[in-house]
Amino acid sequence: MNARLPIAAASALIVALALGAVPARAEEKGKSWASKMRDLERTFKDLLLDLNSTERFNAPRNFKRIEANAKRFAAQAHALKERGAPSPDRDPTVGILAGQFAEEADHASEALSSGHRAYGRERLRSLVGFCIACHTRDGEGPKFRTMALGEEVNGLSHLERGDLQAALRQFDAALESYEKAVADSMLLASNPFEWERAAVAGLAVAVRVSGSPDRAAAIVEKVRTAKGTPLYLREQAVAWKKSIQDWKLEPPPSKDRKPVERLREAKRLIGEAREQQKYPADRSADVLYLRASAELHELLSRQPDGEHSTEALYLTGLCYDVLEDVVPRGLHEYYYLACILRSPHTQNARQCFLHYEQSVYLGYTGSSGTHLPRSVKDKLRRLEELSAPEGPGRLQ
Ligand code: HEC
Repeated sequence: MNARLPIAAASALIVALALGAVPARAEEKGKSWASKMRDLERTFKDLLLDLNSTERFNAPRNFKRIEANAKRFAAQAHALKERGAPSPDRDPTVGILAGQFAEEADHASEALSSGHRAYGRERLRSLVGFCIACHTRDGEGPKFRTMALGEEVNGLSHLERGDLQAALRQFDAALESYEKAVADSMLLASNPFEWERAAVAGLAVAVRVSGSPDRAAAIVEKVRTAKGTPLYLREQAVAWKKSIQDWKLEPPPSKDRKPVERLREAKRLIGEAREQQKYPADRSADVLYLRASAELHELLSRQPDGEHSTEALYLTGLCYDVLEDVVPRGLHEYYYLACILRSPHTQNARQCFLHYEQSVYLGYTGSSGTHLPRSVKDKLRRLEELSAPEGPGRLQ
């Protein structure tokens, strides 16, 4: 999850979009989405028992079990991509994340079995980000009241506990944990980036899943008043507070607003957000981007192939270009790609290409300049053709 989106993954997406889902392996056939989720949950909890304790993780007698669990977990991640029992939610995000999730789970499991144990451990733990990214897009899907968690949470920080609870769809409990992390002055002093991540993760749940300005305001107040908050974070919190106050003044939206109304609302929010940001990576408009992205996910769930979906993909890419720590890194590029592939030779495709190209260039830029591998240049050229207003551009 920490690696930049490799261009190879972009090709995989292109192939996946062209071919559809892969056929199910025999043992996974016929399983409903919910039962696949519960399999994942069970295996992930088993894995965490070992991953969360250095002593258990490093005891040679446990190696075989941990590797077997990691393999099973990767197989279960692959099962999400299979034809037959698809997600009840038709947002293309689910397919995009399922593909990335399976790839990352393989990578983590292989790292572990090839002896890169510390690295494999970190990668496996980071997979929780995929559960969270899928589950906290909007207010849809089941929400579980707090269930007692077992031994697997021993020794976890508030932030890690919040992540696990969000992954298990225990959103109220997750919010409480994130709030505790934000109230933790030791965390702020020792790791302001983790502290900021806790605040944003909490905001994502409060804004998108709970749809609650009050819950969001409670987190922002803690950020604003914490002792020792760096000035830039305090200023961000002031801007977040203003966005939440404005939100509270708006009339409650109708539950069944039409896709075109959702699109209009998302565009309004993104327009405001861009006006508010002082530079592209400025996070002071996060509340607006979170609200816009929830609107767009709801639109995409209801009309994955409707007349507004290409534009919705483009706008979702813009949101995650900024909200990069809410989702696995590089996710925004998948939306730009999906947008180009869905509606080649259109104005939207052109805009998506421009953002995609810029993001790829940034990814290959380091202290010694920009070094694009030949294969990446070739892919960019083909995508550029495909996004050109007219012409015979074809992706090969
Ligand atoms: C690719 C997207 C995606 C990923 C990755 C994902 N989930 Fe889910 N999950 C969903 C969706 C969508 C639903 C809700 C389906 C619905 O609307 O009923 C769901 C529902 C669930 C449920 C509720 C099942 C039920 O009984 O109804 C559990 C539990 C769950 N997920 C656990 C997990 C865990 C744990 C992980 C990570 C290890 C995970 N999920 C990863 C998309 C995902």
